[in-house]
Amino acid sequence: MSPRAVPDGGAVVTGVREQLEAALLRARGRSNSLIECVDDADLVAQHSPLMSPLVWDLAHIGNQEELWLVRDVGGREPVRRDIDELYDAFKHARSARPTLPLLGPAEARHYVGQVRRKVWDVLDASSFRGRRLEQDGFAFAMIAQHEQQHDETMLATHQLRKGPAVLTAPPVRAARRPVTEREAVIPAGEFTMGTSDDPWALDNERPAHRVHVEEFAIDTVPVTNADYAHFIEDGGYRRRELWSERGWRHRRESGLEAPMFWTGDGGGNWWRHRFGILEPVPPDEPVVHVCWFEAQAYARWAGKRLPTEAEWEKAARWHPVSGRSRRFPWGDDEPDRTRANLGQRHLGPAPIGSYPAGASALGVQQLMGDVWEWTSSSFTGYPGFAAFPYREYSEVFLDGDYRVLRGGSFGTDPIACRGTFRNWDHPIRRQIFAGFRCARDV
Ligand code: AVJ
Ligand code: FE
Repeated sequence: MSPRAVPDGGAVVTGVREQLEAALLRARGRSNSLIECVDDADLVAQHSPLMSPLVWDLAHIGNQEELWLVRDVGGREPVRRDIDELYDAFKHARSARPTLPLLGPAEARHYVGQVRRKVWDVLDASSFRGRRLEQDGFAFAMIAQHEQQHDETMLATHQLRKGPAVLTAPPVRAARRPVTEREAVIPAGEFTMGTSDDPWALDNERPAHRVHVEEFAIDTVPVTNADYAHFIEDGGYRRRELWSERGWRHRRESGLEAPMFWTGDGGGNWWRHRFGILEPVPPDEPVVHVCWFEAQAYARWAGKRLPTEAEWEKAARWHPVSGRSRRFPWGDDEPDRTRANLGQRHLGPAPIGSYPAGASALGVQQLMGDVWEWTSSSFTGYPGFAAFPYREYSEVFLDGDYRVLRGGSFGTDPIACRGTFRNWDHPIRRQIFAGFRCARDV
């Protein structure tokens, strides 16, 4: 735990300080665990052109923390001004990062430690008032979310890494309940999408606004491996009519035949590689490592479609009695282990039916955690969107070739997951922990 004392403040302020301290410590503990389980050669290697070397993520985490907390909030002298350019994600593509004169593993560890020691002083000194950046501890929470997002990215790098398993986690042991209803109907009407009052929400989740959604049905659970295997067996990857034009072209050019990391024996038996272990594909787990085009083709095969982002959020947040949009499907309380598979407690999604306590008011399950869920929507700014505190978090990605994903995965920390949280990626990406559920008009 932290070796430092937490100064006394007012009751509420002390609570925020302690929450932020805990969030920063948790993020660093996770970063370290993802770094310390491999040797230095592995840290500087590029395991996939889609990913940075792990040592880049580590120093980038420290650099963002330095920029926002040490220099901006704290008004302190730079720790290392000379490396800003190296760790600016917009200056160098991921594929080019291994050739940069990066800090080595020992140097990167030293650097993030130096930054963090200064941050403890800045945290102690902050009043969490005044500038918007400091209001309610936003900047600290933003940095904790940033580190956790990179931790999830590093987890995806581990999944791409060859060689024996280095990560461990207990298997899911939830008491499963059979999923009897496979669809929930969400009535037509307006709901509040996004947020204006969640103090740690990021810019793209703002502002809250009313959206009308027509009546629709949504699957109560994500599409499973067994469901997806049926699609494959039924010729899903061979039937042109199930795919969009661009999706089909991509399928052919990339030779897609099954989710990433699956291998088949040609007789309908599927195996998958996960974090260095080869195992039979478990039928009842949500399918993961499919791209948006595959999700779209599956949905068409099933006679359905992907939910829009607004539909997904209404299914997750809207409460039919109060009419309010809640923070999570189950209400406003924080996630815990009975409600969602988050925070890398396990190294994969949980079988469907594992989290009945996490269901929404209308019975939609496993919206939070397990797998990110592709929606049909492109990533756009809400009406009144304003970039804050920097354009490169969201704004530069708006209206580009990105689709929105919702709900978080088993590798998402709870601080970076809520009913309003928005993730995005290119429609061809499969290395992220993404699956989907279907919806349809009624
Ligand atoms: C929100 C996950 C798409 O990883 O590119 C990390 C998060 N932004 N550093 C990403 C992010 C800046 C971002 N995603
Ligand atoms: Fe980043």
